[in-house]
Order: sequence, then structure tokens, then C-alpha cells
Amino acid sequence: MKALILSGGKGTRLRPLTHTGAKQLVPVVNKPILWYGIESIVAAGITDIGIILSPETGEEIKAKTGSGERFGAKITYILQENPDGLAHAVKIAQPFLKESPFVMYLGDNLIQDTLSEFLTQFQDKQLDSLILLRQVPDPTAFGVAKVAADGKVLGLVEKPKIPPSNLALVGVYFFSPAIHDAIARIQPSARGELEITDAIQTLIDHQKQVEACELTGWWLDTGKKDDLLEANRIILDECPLTACHGEVDDQSRITGRVKIGRGSKITNCTIRGPVIIGEDCHLDNCFIGPYSSISNRVSLVNADIEHSVVLESAKIVDIHQRIVDSVIGQRAQIKPAHPRPKALRLMVGDDSQIDLI
Ligand code: DAU
Repeated sequence: MKALILSGGKGTRLRPLTHTGAKQLVPVVNKPILWYGIESIVAAGITDIGIILSPETGEEIKAKTGSGERFGAKITYILQENPDGLAHAVKIAQPFLKESPFVMYLGDNLIQDTLSEFLTQFQDKQLDSLILLRQVPDPTAFGVAKVAADGKVLGLVEKPKIPPSNLALVGVYFFSPAIHDAIARIQPSARGELEITDAIQTLIDHQKQVEACELTGWWLDTGKKDDLLEANRIILDECPLTACHGEVDDQSRITGRVKIGRGSKITNCTIRGPVIIGEDCHLDNCFIGPYSSISNRVSLVNADIEHSVVLESAKIVDIHQRIVDSVIGQRAQIKPAHPRPKALRLMVGDDSQIDLI
């Protein structure tokens, strides 16, 4: 059994946050989303992992993730020149996958369920595909499946205007090598992509065994700001957070579950967990409220922040209003030009959203 993680694509939906970076590397509780997928695959006993990369963000993903040794896995990187679709990614990965069955995992998805029980079902029933589904209120943004009472998949459609059910395809799929023939038979969709939903539909049309399982735990497609904050909230609630490797002065008050990384200096701050603070951060005279993740090398001075994610090397200085429900990008700087600002001077990137409340 092998695994194929898709970390190419354009990542347009988190712009401008990921205009320059990979959306799969955006951290949730200071760990890249992609790494949760790798860990989940390794926990299911699969250690031969291929990762699809795009020319724009591939080097960054490779440099950060490495050979796989830190996860107990062997990672093979596969370059996809253009984001021509999920099935296209499988097609170009064929020399790596060979005749092995595999799990395909979308690198921007996070699921709570462990993979082992789905893997067992896929193997025991000798299926050609097992897809994972989740009920969602608005299925039009996803692949949608129609399933019989016994779990057999009757049909699939990608981002339908009129969905045949409320069951969205979660970004985790199990395949036998029969998927390669199915991909060879499909044509690009109206949006110009080779769709994996069309390839699975081809399996069904050729009487192959395709079944579905509904997830019981949470699933987060972290492409959007609110999903990212929600993923951060859920994982902060679940993970152990009680180590302090930094320096905290006597004026600071820390309550609840808080993790502080090596080399970080906390002076005259109030921190209410659950909160994670990365390495080499500088926090002076701040309030950090629950459900905040502060990445490495962030500097916060005279700032007040809650339920937010601050990415690496960002700087927030002398902002006296509370910053809530926010995602602050890498190296971003927020600071007033005067002690009591009367006006805002902004440079706002494409697709940004600023809510003044
Ligand atoms: O998140 C679940 C949904 O993922 C499913 O319900 C849909 O059926 C499925 O098509 C997919 O839809 P998205 O529109 O969310 O896919 P997205 O373009 O965001 O790509 C998903 C991941 O795959 C992302 O990590 C980028 C990567 N990718 C995407 C394309 C199109 C590639 O590596 N290569 C590609 O060519």
C-alpha cells in the first residue's frame, strides 16, 4: 500500500495569505496542515508516500518537509507542471504508484478520524475504490455522491448546481490500480481539469466495486480563513499544551493550557490558554486570549489578540484595539504611525477582507 498526497494546485482560495506560499504549509497549532495528513497516513502503517508539488510552491514544501525521516516515512516528490486536476496528478504519479493500491489524500484537508478502519474495509472487501463522505449544509462547493443503503456508490458529480444528496466527498480516497485505466478513459471537464470524480464514475460504469463510508469525526477543508480558525480551535482543544521552554518574567500571568517554544521571551503579558507560542518570539505587554496560535519569530508589543492565528515573523506593535478572529500572514507588520491614530493607511492585497467592528 502506498500513499499519494496532492500538494500542488493554485491555492487561490487563501489569497493573499498564500499568494507567495503553499496553502498546505499554512500552520494549524503551529504545524503545517500537510504534516497532519502525513502523520495520519504513517499511523495507518503506510510509509511509502508520494507528494505532488507545483513549480510555484514545490521547493518550499520540499525544504520544510524533507525526506520523510522525521515522520518515519519515505517521501518521493513528484512535480506536476500545471494544476490539470486531481486525476491528472494520479496520472503523472503512475511511475511512482506502479501496480500498488494507494490512498490519495488532499494536502489541504484535515480529518479527525484515523485511516486504519477505512483501510481495513478497503482491503478486506477488495474494493476498487473506497471514498469518504461527510454530510454538509451546502454541497455545491464539493464533489457530491449518491449512495445506496448498503454503502455502494451509485453516482458522483463534481460541484453540482443541484446536488443529488448532501454527502460531500472528503479529500481522502482509497484506490486499486484499476483507477489508472479509468483515468485513461476520461476527458477534461468544463473547467479544463481531469476530475477524479469522473474517473470514479467510470469505475462505477464498468461495474467495479466502489463503496463509501461516512466520517464520524470532524473534517476541515482549510482553504478559507474561518475554516482555518475553526481547525485551530478544535486542535488546540485536543492537543497537550503544557510545556514552557521560553523565558517568562514575574509580571506575566499564564493561565490554562499554554505551550511556549524555545528562545521565546514573555514580559508583562497575560496569556489565557489554550494558546501555543512558537520559538524565538518576543511578547511584551500583551494580552493573548484563548484559541490563539503564534508562530515562530513573531513579535507582539502592546498588543491584544484572541482567537487568531499569527504566522511566522509577523510583527504587531501598539495596537490597542483587541484583534479577534484574524489570520495574520508571514512577515506582515501592523503598527500605527502615531501614538493615537486618527486615520488608517493601508496597502491591501487582492481578495483581502478587513472587518472593522
Ligand atoms: O476538499 C474536498 C474537495 O476537494 C472534494 O469534495 C472535491 O470533489 C475535490 O475535487 C476537491 O475539490 P477542491 O476544489 O477543493 O480541490 P482543490 O483545487 O482545492 O485541490 C485539492 C488539493 O489538491 C489541494 O491541496 C491542491 C491539490 N491539487 C489540485 C489540483 C487541481 C493538485 O495537487 N493538483 C491539481 O491539479
